[in-house]
Amino acid sequence: MTYHKPLSIKTLNTTLLVIIFLINCQISSAQQAGKTDAIYSGLPWYDPNGAVISSHGANIIKEKNLFYFFGEAHTDTSNTFVGFNCYSSKDLYNWKFEQIALPVQSGGKLGPNRVGERPKVMKNPKSREFIMYMHVDTPGYKDQFVGYAVSKNITGPYQFKGALLFKEKPIKKWDMGTFQDDDGKGYLLTHGGVIHQLSDDYKSIVAETNKQITSGFESPTLFRKGNVYYFIGSHLTSWEKNDNYYYTSKSLSGPWISRGLIAPKDQLTWNSQTTFVLKIAGSKDTTYLFMGDRWSYPRQRSAATYVWQPIKFNGDSISLPKYLDAWTIDTKTGVANEKTIDFQTIANDSKQIQYQGNWEKSVIETIPVTRSSSDRASCSFTFKGIQIGLQTVVLPDNGYARIILADQKGTVLINNLVDMYAKTPASRLVFLSPVLRKAEYKLTVSVAGERPNWFDKKKINYGSTANNITISKLIIKE
Ligand code: DGJ
Repeated sequence: MTYHKPLSIKTLNTTLLVIIFLINCQISSAQQAGKTDAIYSGLPWYDPNGAVISSHGANIIKEKNLFYFFGEAHTDTSNTFVGFNCYSSKDLYNWKFEQIALPVQSGGKLGPNRVGERPKVMKNPKSREFIMYMHVDTPGYKDQFVGYAVSKNITGPYQFKGALLFKEKPIKKWDMGTFQDDDGKGYLLTHGGVIHQLSDDYKSIVAETNKQITSGFESPTLFRKGNVYYFIGSHLTSWEKNDNYYYTSKSLSGPWISRGLIAPKDQLTWNSQTTFVLKIAGSKDTTYLFMGDRWSYPRQRSAATYVWQPIKFNGDSISLPKYLDAWTIDTKTGVANEKTIDFQTIANDSKQIQYQGNWEKSVIETIPVTRSSSDRASCSFTFKGIQIGLQTVVLPDNGYARIILADQKGTVLINNLVDMYAKTPASRLVFLSPVLRKAEYKLTVSVAGERPNWFDKKKINYGSTANNITISKLIIKE
């Protein structure tokens, strides 16, 4: 009889760390030859090694001259906690993977087979420690509370301390956020619009500052401009996007005035869910950057993306009136500008695109497209240049497209799923390669045969109704 020695906690820890490291590495050889020059919403972002950036339900804090971006790491196979990632950047466009700020614990509430979401980090002004807050839960979302973790180094590793207590009891809420006021006081935000004031060391709660404003109001996001507080939240629709709305007040304890939607109705917050607003105060202007998640369940690692847009102010009203595919922010001056993507266009019916399998041509809202849901359908395009992008019309019956970018020798640089689904149709750029060395490359786009589709805990079905992929044009930069 063979006897297998049980794994010790130490071995288990090391194994977990190796798995997490491999998940985060997924190194392809798409080493970026040039830098990203703008914020491009709604497409996979790549770090300098060509690995997809996975950092959702995130926040950003600035320390010295670097921005640090903390968010949920995801896999494409399960929604369980695989750690919170930390990335850094000087310009908010190019993100370097620092490390897993909080890894999966060997056991306990953030151990294997648990849920950890919406990490938010604040620096305590007195102790100068970094404190991370998060939603802790079971995979079925039945044991939620707000937890916290502590680190002396901004990038971590953070030490998980368990539940954040108020009157010695945990806060048993799920969606959460944080807010640091100009006077250094820290606040915990929970769904429904509840605000709790943190203790001086940020490690417990001392008071309930604001009672529930409304039901729902998930992903609570609060920021301040002048003497007005803006409180943004979403409806409860699982991973599906909805029209996020906001309140304003001159005091954190209210009264909060309902101000309506932050983006045009039915645009579902430009197909995203709010997570944080970053203030970028520069020498000439101050820009408030709305950070939203475009979730893509179940392929969240590959296909969930970021919708980052500059907030427009009109008196004390805020809005995201127009979706910007690309825009620039000068982190020194604080000035934001829309960026025109002036690439060469290859239309969907160009002879240079080689279609294989069954495809249909049609026109959707005046846009000519080619569509397929057929299993072996693909199209490919060979080009010489430094960058390539793919424009689609996102639709309710679209699914995932597989994108493969290879060099002349056939070496695969990128192999990624891209989500073409949205409840509200729109013409969107859904893929843009990193800036590559000038050479010949081949892009292949194929029907993945899968779609974002899931049931929530009430067994309500959400997501796409079919596996179509839709090509409207390719864009290339020579
Ligand atoms: C909506 C929340 O905002 C997300 O953080 C996540 O918990 C999903 N619900 C799960 O369905």
